[in-house]
Amino acid sequence: MMKKLTLRRPDDWHLHLRDDAMLQGILPETTRHFARAIIMPNLVPPVVTGADAAAYRNRILAALPDDAAFEPLMTLYLTEDTDPADVAAAHASGLVKAVKLYPAGATTNSNSGVRDFDRVRAVFETMAEIGLPLCVHGEVTTASVDIFDREAVFIDTVLDPIRRATPGLRVVMEHITTRQGVDYVRAGGEDLAATITTHHLIINRNHILVGGIKPHYYCLPVAKREEHRLALRAAATSGEARFFLGTDSAPHIDSLKEQACGCAGCFTATNTMAILAHVFDEEGALDQLERFTSLNGPAFYRMPANDSTLTLEKTTEPADWPAKILTGAGPVTVFDPGFPVHWQVHD
Ligand code: DOR
Ligand code: ZN
Repeated sequence: MMKKLTLRRPDDWHLHLRDDAMLQGILPETTRHFARAIIMPNLVPPVVTGADAAAYRNRILAALPDDAAFEPLMTLYLTEDTDPADVAAAHASGLVKAVKLYPAGATTNSNSGVRDFDRVRAVFETMAEIGLPLCVHGEVTTASVDIFDREAVFIDTVLDPIRRATPGLRVVMEHITTRQGVDYVRAGGEDLAATITTHHLIINRNHILVGGIKPHYYCLPVAKREEHRLALRAAATSGEARFFLGTDSAPHIDSLKEQACGCAGCFTATNTMAILAHVFDEEGALDQLERFTSLNGPAFYRMPANDSTLTLEKTTEPADWPAKILTGAGPVTVFDPGFPVHWQVHD
């Protein structure tokens, strides 16, 4: 059995690369397969200004493997003090491709995020005028709202009011995890899209909790019930233009995942393409994989698709990858889908 599939080279529309020794250690895992990625700005301190983004971009370029052709697409971390003129200038220069909204306290390094959405109204107005997408971490942080309901409540109480108040604002709902997220995007018109991660196509909340707690399956937004995973799989494999891949590959060293209060994040850069080929094959949707990984994202971000290609092959033997990436910052465990994967990237 040998089957090959050649795609336009994929892009990752939501990626955490971190900095320093971690950046150096994990960057090749992405550049091996992906041509471009939207780079998350939640460093410590965050990437807030155009100048911060330019400096971070230079650090990423300096860390690239010698033979890598990879373009980091930079983002700004929205704070209540963000200057609309700085955002507009960073966009006009071609440096910045999106602004990231973290509700304060929602996830890793989100403390500088937004508490009062009225204080960022002027930035939203500017972004709507210039067509710069807003990438949204869509969870409310209200203590009384159950963690499994935080995405659905965010859509109704925060995102929908923002979009109604700011016509023309282009929004990417990042890493959607619910049927409500899928339905909202489908009903949302051409200014709304969503990224879907690899791991949310594989795990539901049982994978995290049944038979012992699995820290490497803990991420935010947390995986939900099976009905939601199935809705995500249907959306990803549908080929619909407003769903595309954003891995949210988010490395943390093992000692910070495997402890009493473990960090959120699944590291999927290494095996995302193999797993996705397996999933799309299972769903009888291999003909839609290129749309999800390589065509829908560039179309929404108004960029050309990549000219180069990536070939996947179906294999009799299960695919093999390192269990951990050994970085200078420490070991990072690669996401384990929990079943044998019969696809691999052909080098
Ligand atoms: O699981 C997550 N990890 N979700 C996020 O929103 C942030 C990310 C990280 O930076 O580790
Ligand atoms: Zn993320």
